[in-house]
Amino acid sequence: MSRTVLIGVTGCVAIYKTCEVIRGLQKAGVRAKVVMTESATHFINPTLFRSLTREPVAVGLFDDAPGDPIHHISLAKEADLFLIAPCTANVIAKMAHGIADDLLTTTALATTAPIVIAPAMNVNMYENAATQLNMETLRTRGIAFIDAESGYLACGDEGKGRLADPAVIVEAVLERLDAKRDLEGKRVLVTAGPTVEPIDAVRFISNPSSGKMGFAIAAAAHERGADVTLVTGPVALEDLPGMETVHVRTACEMLEAVDAAFDKADIAIFTAAVSDYRPANPSGCKLKKGRDDAELSTIQLVENPDILATMSSRKRDGQVVVGFAAETDDLEVNAREKLAKKNADFIVANLVSHGNGFAADENEATIVSKDGAKPLNRMAKGQLAHRILDELLG
Ligand code: C5P
Repeated sequence: MSRTVLIGVTGCVAIYKTCEVIRGLQKAGVRAKVVMTESATHFINPTLFRSLTREPVAVGLFDDAPGDPIHHISLAKEADLFLIAPCTANVIAKMAHGIADDLLTTTALATTAPIVIAPAMNVNMYENAATQLNMETLRTRGIAFIDAESGYLACGDEGKGRLADPAVIVEAVLERLDAKRDLEGKRVLVTAGPTVEPIDAVRFISNPSSGKMGFAIAAAAHERGADVTLVTGPVALEDLPGMETVHVRTACEMLEAVDAAFDKADIAIFTAAVSDYRPANPSGCKLKKGRDDAELSTIQLVENPDILATMSSRKRDGQVVVGFAAETDDLEVNAREKLAKKNADFIVANLVSHGNGFAADENEATIVSKDGAKPLNRMAKGQLAHRILDELLG
């Protein structure tokens, strides 16, 4: 059965490129259907898209759609993927805030299909902190972006903001449509983020892990059909839809949550940056300078449980355990040591220097297993998450 891509078209000069996108998708056997914003119709008459797609073009939330009283819901349901190209800063902002004030944004809110956005706008609008933050918000909710290109813009400015090439958009959409469902029926357990180990009521030991890598792995596993449990330390990311998320603070709490989910998991991926030590005697109230100097100047630490090693020691046949190794030097040697010491099947090793690792959106990693080491290029964490799953599944 042919798959349906619903194409959201917003009001922007780059709209003419959408015709090429439609052609490209049709050539690949995909059914394309268009929903336009009111302002898009000022650039191109819906008739052009109707002729190209040989499908009715939806515009108004209250327009009559014959035989279809709740149009936004039926559009949302028939889409295997919702592509918005070109997507203006305005529509990105509305989607980031859940605003649904026209047919396109209402459909975006109602669909459970994957959403892919190809932004196009003036360079200053693109670089504006509001737009950047809105895009980041949508990314953390699993919406994929096809980066705008740099170059000469319709307004005469030079810079980033040009709609990606139609061929690039078509390829990205097809790749996503063909996304593997190779984790269907599997349970995947992922740990993410830092742990926070209290010193007293207001101070703690932690690290700058953002949780982005673990969340990206959980999202990728969910996309591929897995039943995912995500155990995360405190992060500034929203819970991902479609999975169980367990929030913890300390390593001991993380161990407890992982312990409860591990035996049922087919794959366990330990991305969390767990504090190796915790204060031995955290104070329930705030330690005071002048009064508690002895406790403040020398904090007695005790070792935390190694969650990965603890779980691996009871690994059953067929269960796959993956650890991460953030290193500042001797990447592969350290990763190999960790593989053996922690009885893991894979170690994903990355250098946490040169802007890599922790809070960055991209990462460069080497996957080490008993079969050897596979270095991967620098790429977005979402993409890397899929590459890691590809490796685990062989
Ligand atoms: O030994 P190191 O901290 O470098 O090991 C990193 C790997 O071990 C990561 O996968 C991390 O999630 C896991 N780990 C753990 N519990 C700890 C320390 C690390 O699960 N206490």
